[in-house]
Amino acid sequence: MRAALYDRHGASAEVLRVEDIETPDPRPGEVRVKIVYSGVNPTDWKSRGGGTPRPIDGFQIPHQDGAGVIDAVGEDVDPARIGQRVWLFLAAAGRRWGTAAEWTVIPAERAVPLPGSTSFELGASLGVPAMTAHRCLFADGPVDGKTILVAGGAGAVGHFAIELAKYAGARVITTVSGPEKAELARKAGADLVVNYREPSASAEISSFGPVDRVIELALGANLQLDLAVLSPGGAVVTYAAEPADPVLPVRACMNANVILRFVLLYGVPVDAMQRAAADITAALTRGALTELPVHTFSLDDIAAAQDAVQNGAVGKVLVAPA
Ligand SMILES: NC(=O)c1ccc[n+]([C@@H]2O[C@H](COP(=O)([O-])OP(=O)(O)OC[C@H]3O[C@@H](n4cnc5c(N)ncnc54)[C@H](OP(=O)(O)O)[C@@H]3O)[C@@H](O)[C@H]2O)c1
Repeated sequence: MRAALYDRHGASAEVLRVEDIETPDPRPGEVRVKIVYSGVNPTDWKSRGGGTPRPIDGFQIPHQDGAGVIDAVGEDVDPARIGQRVWLFLAAAGRRWGTAAEWTVIPAERAVPLPGSTSFELGASLGVPAMTAHRCLFADGPVDGKTILVAGGAGAVGHFAIELAKYAGARVITTVSGPEKAELARKAGADLVVNYREPSASAEISSFGPVDRVIELALGANLQLDLAVLSPGGAVVTYAAEPADPVLPVRACMNANVILRFVLLYGVPVDAMQRAAADITAALTRGALTELPVHTFSLDDIAAAQDAVQNGAVGKVLVAPA
């Protein structure tokens, strides 16, 4: 099969190459998936670049996310799954078989049935962003009737956080940096969209009522705003690191009785992962999740695809292996 791969960490153009390698067979408990789209996330360029390095087992095919069709199953997997459309998560976590190839092999539970009404583009956009959004939203309990503030609502995680929160019955406020992203956040269903760069941001959010939970990606930049709008005992759930770690204003956090939680998808408990996958699939079936604008690259342009994500492309970057 044709696969993009690297065998050392470094700049995209220096270490990523496309090769013909042997198509893998699924081992017990695994399925093999013919990839239609591979989804690119910041974690993929950070791992490849060495910023958050992961051990390389001979070679590494990049990308955690993807969508396609199961064409073979290993021992202990129901053969009736052959032919099933699926969306994938954590394909390359502790494994060399990422999705940037014509086929991947993956533990069967990480290949989740994709409803017939859902496009492969949306399926390949879900893994890391939607699973992370789900964990951040629900780790502290249901959100029905609660007010959720999603920082960066036009980002991939932010987008699914808005949609999953609305689907679960929350009121959703989100922040963006300008009109193009505001439009995306409104389309995702946010009840209030606020430009976080405007001095009025805090007052605009507060006028909507106290916030129960913040889904945060820039704790240092936004903590002051978050504490100003949170209800007592509310939670700030952070899923991204900024270039420099913030200094924590402990007294202000105590005054707010705030709960600070941190989420890294790679370490989320298995039962929470399975619940997230099931909830996301149910939301797809109800048409509650939508695509961001998609930018598609060929496998030969994988370096450009990863660079596009690193440079802050608005929407989802996908790679089509075939
Ligand atoms: N912990 C985990 O398991 C996990 C999982 C997924 C992603 N992540 C991390 O989360 C980050 C976002 O990932 P993504 O895929 O959603 O990226 P993305 O699609 O590029 O979205 C990031 C969004 O954040 C916005 N933003 C930046 N600074 C902001 C601020 N101070 N306040 C509000 N919004 C801000 C950006 O827009 P503007 O710059 O225009 O505001 C952009 O829309 C990455 O660092 C990624 O590595 C972590």
